[in-house]
Amino acid sequence: MASSDHETDATAAPPEGPPLRPGASGRAKTVEEIRDVYADQIDMLARTDRLNRLFTGRYRRRAFARATGRVLDVACGMATNARYVPPSAEYVGIDVSPDMLREARAELDRIGRDGEVREMDAQDLDFPDDGFDAVISSLSTCTFPDPVAALNEMGRVCDPDGHVLLLEHGRSDVDLVARFQDWRADAHFEKHACRWNQEPIAVVAESDLQVERAWSAALGIITGIEARPG
Ligand SMILES: C[S@@+](CC[C@H](N)C(=O)[O-])C[C@H]1O[C@@H](n2cnc3c(N)ncnc32)[C@H](O)[C@@H]1O
Repeated sequence: MASSDHETDATAAPPEGPPLRPGASGRAKTVEEIRDVYADQIDMLARTDRLNRLFTGRYRRRAFARATGRVLDVACGMATNARYVPPSAEYVGIDVSPDMLREARAELDRIGRDGEVREMDAQDLDFPDDGFDAVISSLSTCTFPDPVAALNEMGRVCDPDGHVLLLEHGRSDVDLVARFQDWRADAHFEKHACRWNQEPIAVVAESDLQVERAWSAALGIITGIEARPG
């Protein structure tokens, strides 16, 4: 899969794609419904965490190597990213799911990393402007009810000289895979609250963030994005 890695022209017009939000079924999930989805899946997610890291670890490391200083991980889930952020960074994670945050706290303890996790809505961050040197987020814009609001909040709390670093997943650039994603989009959204055929660069282009660089991997399903606050 690594052989499909390539740089993406972040200044090119965003690719055409299916509707970004709400889900393919035409209905967005609320934050409460998203909490319920993760409450149902937390045991399975905790059990498969190692497999998740096996597949996504190299992409997380590549995406977040520049996350130094005071770092905010938005929609941190089980704090999987904490292993891939440089050890010198001060790690703060937020998420709406108390179940995910319980696992996040356990993960920080397990890897011996100081850090703080808090329950918070990405679309309404309870932090002052410019307070973080880097804001990171992974596999999240597909789930946010309003991803543009969340991306703008990430830019607001990031220092103007800092970076917003994203690792997203979306519609493959391999036609057969993309058509499968389109076909299953509705069912996938209902079960996982995830728009897995979204176009991540197109979503970010709608926000105030200024995309500087993007790369993709794994048949175009994985996208890394480096952006400046708007
Ligand atoms: C697919 S998981 C990704 C978790 C983690 N970032 C990772 O890479 O493993 C999506 C996460 O987004 C969180 N989430 C969804 N909507 C949110 C919101 N409005 N504010 C904060 N977190 C949210 C979910 O609770 C879940 O933990």
